[in-house]
Amino acid sequence: MGNFTILDAGQTAAALPFVELVDALRIGFASGCQLPQRHHHTMARDGEADATLLLMPAWTNPAEVEQYLGVKLVTVVPGNAKRGLPGLVSTYMLYNGQTGEQLALMDGNTITGRRTVATSALAAAYLARPDSTKLLVAGAGRVGSLIPDAYRAVLPIEDVAIWDANPEVSHRLARSVSESGLQAYVVEDLETEVRNADIISTATLATEPFIRGEWLTPGTHVDLIGGFTPKMREADDAVVTRSQLYVDTAEALHEAGDLVQPIHAGLIGESHVLSTLADLCRADEFVRRDSQSITCFKAVGSGLADLVAAKLVHARSRDG
Ligand SMILES: NC(=O)c1ccc[n+]([C@@H]2O[C@H](COP(=O)([O-])OP(=O)(O)OC[C@H]3O[C@@H](n4cnc5c(N)ncnc54)[C@H](O)[C@@H]3O)[C@@H](O)[C@H]2O)c1
Repeated sequence: MGNFTILDAGQTAAALPFVELVDALRIGFASGCQLPQRHHHTMARDGEADATLLLMPAWTNPAEVEQYLGVKLVTVVPGNAKRGLPGLVSTYMLYNGQTGEQLALMDGNTITGRRTVATSALAAAYLARPDSTKLLVAGAGRVGSLIPDAYRAVLPIEDVAIWDANPEVSHRLARSVSESGLQAYVVEDLETEVRNADIISTATLATEPFIRGEWLTPGTHVDLIGGFTPKMREADDAVVTRSQLYVDTAEALHEAGDLVQPIHAGLIGESHVLSTLADLCRADEFVRRDSQSITCFKAVGSGLADLVAAKLVHARSRDG
C-alpha cells in the first residue's frame, strides 16, 4: 500500500496547528471543491435504536494541480450509551484524486472539531473588530473547548469567559485555558458577560435561544456553531435581525434553526444574509463596516473544510 499512513487523534491534531489551518481554509473556501450529496444509511437494530452510517465525500476541482478525494465516514450508534461506548465514531480517508490510491486514514472527530473552530476564526478575521480581546465561549464540549486556541491564532484574545450547562465542564476548560496563558473564568451571569464580550462563540446542543439580541453591545461579533437542525437555537431573533449576517455555506439558510425560524416568521428574508464564507475569502477583504456594527456568522459545517484539513494533515505528516 505504498506510503499509506494511519494517524490517531493526537497525531491528527498535531498536524493541524490553527494558524496554518486558517490559512489553508482561506485558500480552500476561495477555490471550492466538488461536494456531492452526503449518504445517510439507517441500519435497523434488534432491541435498540437504529444505527446510522454517514458517508461524506468531497474531491478537488478538475483544474487543481494536485487532485485529492476524501470521504468522512461516521457511525452513529445510540445503543452504545448503555455499553459505555461513544455513540459516534468518525474516520477520514484521504486518497490521491488522480489515481484513487489511499494516502492517509485519520481521526475524523479531530478533523471535524479543528476545522470547525478554524472556520469560525477565519470568518472572525474578516468580521470581528481587530482589537477584540474579550471572548465569551458558550458550550465547552469537544468543539467549544477548541474555540479559544483557534481565535487567538487570528485575534489578540486576552480574556476568555466560559459558560456551559455543566459547571464541571466549564471549570475544566477554564483551567486549561488559564494554563495556556490567557485569563479565563467561569461565567456567573450570562447577560453581563454577553454585554462585556467583543466576541461570543457558541457550540452547544441547545434547542432554546440563550443569547439575546437586546444584550448585545455595538461592535460585538457573534459566532454560532452549534445548531444544525431547524429546531435548534442558540440565538434569539433579535441577534439575527440586529446583525450584519454571514454564513459558512448557503445550506445554513435551510438547516439552522437560528436562521430558518426568523425566516419562516417573516422577520428576515434570505437576502438578510450578506454573503457566504467563500465570497469573503474570494474578496479577501476585511468587511466590517465600522466599530459599532454587530456582525454574526452562522456555520453548519462543510465537507470542503474537512478536505482542506485532511490535505493539511497529510502534507504535514508526509513532510515530517
Ligand atoms: N458548525 C459546524 O461545523 C459544527 C461542527 C461540529 C459540531 N457542531 C455542533 O456543535 C455542537 C457541539 O458539539 P460538540 O461535539 O462539542 O458536543 P459536546 O457534546 O462535546 O459538547 C456540547 C456542550 O454543550 C453543553 N450544552 C448542551 N446544551 C446546552 C445548553 N442548552 N446550554 C448550555 N450548554 C449546553 C454540554 O454540556 C456540552 O458541554 C453540536 O450541536 C454539534 O452538532 C457544529
